[in-house]
Amino acid sequence: MAQDGQSQNIDALMAESRTYPPDPAFTEQANAKPGFYDQDPDEFWEREGRERLSWFTDFTTLKQWDRPYAKWYLGGKLNACYNCVDRHVENGLGDKVAYYWEGEPVDDRLTITYADLQSRVVKAANGFKSLGIGKGTKVAVYLGMIPEAPVTLLALARLGAPFTFVFGGFSATALGSRMQEMECEYLITQDAANRRGKPGPLKPTADEAMDMAPTVKTCVTVNRTGTEVDMLDGRDHWWSDVVDGQDDDPKSCPCEPMDSEDLFFLMFSSGTTGKPKGILHTTAGYLAGTSTTHHYVFDIKPETVYWCAADIGWITGHSYIVFGPLVNATTSVMYEGTPDFPDKARWWEIIERYKVNVLYTAPTTIRTHMKWGTEALQKHDLSSLKILGSVGEPINPEAWIWYRDNVGGGKCPVVDTWWQTENGMILVTPLPGLTTLKPGSATHPFIGVKAAVYDEAGKEIAPGDGAGYMVVKEPWPAMFRGLLNDDQRFRETYWSTFPDAYLAGDGARVDGDGDFWLMGRIDDVMNVSGHRLSTIEIESALVSHPDVAQAAVVSRADATTGQAIVAYVTLKDGAEGSPEKLTELRDHVGKEIGPIAKPANIVFADSLPMTRSGKIMRRLLKDVAENRALGDTTTLADPSVVNEIKERADSEK
Ligand code: WTA
Repeated sequence: MAQDGQSQNIDALMAESRTYPPDPAFTEQANAKPGFYDQDPDEFWEREGRERLSWFTDFTTLKQWDRPYAKWYLGGKLNACYNCVDRHVENGLGDKVAYYWEGEPVDDRLTITYADLQSRVVKAANGFKSLGIGKGTKVAVYLGMIPEAPVTLLALARLGAPFTFVFGGFSATALGSRMQEMECEYLITQDAANRRGKPGPLKPTADEAMDMAPTVKTCVTVNRTGTEVDMLDGRDHWWSDVVDGQDDDPKSCPCEPMDSEDLFFLMFSSGTTGKPKGILHTTAGYLAGTSTTHHYVFDIKPETVYWCAADIGWITGHSYIVFGPLVNATTSVMYEGTPDFPDKARWWEIIERYKVNVLYTAPTTIRTHMKWGTEALQKHDLSSLKILGSVGEPINPEAWIWYRDNVGGGKCPVVDTWWQTENGMILVTPLPGLTTLKPGSATHPFIGVKAAVYDEAGKEIAPGDGAGYMVVKEPWPAMFRGLLNDDQRFRETYWSTFPDAYLAGDGARVDGDGDFWLMGRIDDVMNVSGHRLSTIEIESALVSHPDVAQAAVVSRADATTGQAIVAYVTLKDGAEGSPEKLTELRDHVGKEIGPIAKPANIVFADSLPMTRSGKIMRRLLKDVAENRALGDTTTLADPSVVNEIKERADSEK
């Protein structure tokens, strides 16, 4: 059922039988009390919506389900920035820390209180307004992990301007095509981002991207590193010129009342075709869903210090670094850089310094730390930790146990949270005070989430009866509201396989206790270090190189990154591959999509295995990549091709 690339992990999952019941002392103080799941879901979401959010106009209807389109909190008016910032200051929390920001270099630190955040956001919003940004203006954001990143999103939310944040590791082509697709008029970026002691350019990439997206007429650049960049007269402005001199009185720039269902932001994500999908999120349901799950899953208390170590450029960062935590007036840590610079103790120092209580990260990072060993970790006091979270890919039981034992001192519950860009919020997850944990299982659907596993025929597979397709049968508040300009693709991708459920694109099984085990993608989407990439997108990038005739991309299992990308390439005019060509092609993919998409291996071949109808047999290439015996080759036009490829791949090992 699940992708072969994760077969080793699945074997480990199937064999897993350890269980960890909640500690009664934890349950005693937990936000989710026994009986939590017995509540009526509609009453629950109605109450959370009213109590967790502040409304300018109260909503009148909880939800409307006009399959496949859902609406939540209908009739309400609210503002995300008001909910994340202003009301906390009005409620006397101005001195509470919103972010402890750790920059790179490591002595570059800031403590940003809610009052500071408000002042920064109001100034930025006034600055943006002075350039013409207002309600409905579409803005692209291409920033690293600097305070200006959340400040920009909040300022845009304040003005009612929908945004798309493009991960700073993406290429000019990726940024340009996203801006073009959304018809963005403005871009907010920075000169360069600090990474492992060197500035990595962003503005030059943004310049190239703007050449591709003529709707962008104005660009604001944060000067983060002092790197020299080109500034185009009439288009380019420095952040400091636009923002620093502005009024920071919140009354000078009131929060725009937005409809519950107004577009909040767009997040592009890889799908099964070459073109990324523009996933639409609206305002109220997204804020309610993210903040509510944040509160219960991470057991957030007023004094909690919480750290989601993702990048704001991914949905995890939007939902669980910016909006969910800020709605809950949480104190968060945010950092710029990488876990191994200046040394491998970076994370543990941060946890010790701020007495972090909750750490939320991805299995790939946990496995990387595992590889590095426990030396750096043991030198630091991590006893403040209470909960550990995991997201982005299936976590193998060994990494889960390592995380719990070494980072969590054997006492912290590990919450393995399953969700997707489309979901907006965590959908399947343990609750730390209530759930008996099983390493490798995301356990229970959150309250009101009607998750199930279907067989090919769309019949629900009973608990304990094997694996199938992960689906969700009813809408949830932060559910995406469609794909930008593509109703047909929305219906076909998610709602056509089964008439009565959302198709997540993951394989899963439910065990005899009703616990969910997610088993990886079942489509042409790969998950490399927790990043979603499509095989076809990478194939298109390879074929766009002038020397490449054909390319086929598959994934293989990788001990650290979960999956790794393997590309099979035939060159034009029968040319032979070479180590130089290999580097050139990897760099080409890096330039077309971003460094995260560079294949780990490239195998040059004279031809690729095709069926008689002309389709590339990826399944066989996957067998080669994973070093397995070859599957059925009888439908191949020329069965000898795959043996030649296998010999070539073996000789390069
Ligand atoms: C995978 C990230 C197993 C899954 C929030 C999904 C997971 C894709 C888990 C979405 C988990 C995410 N266990 N698999 N706990 N969390 N995934 O859109 O394949 O970047 O479909 O959202 O990541 O990735 P996305």
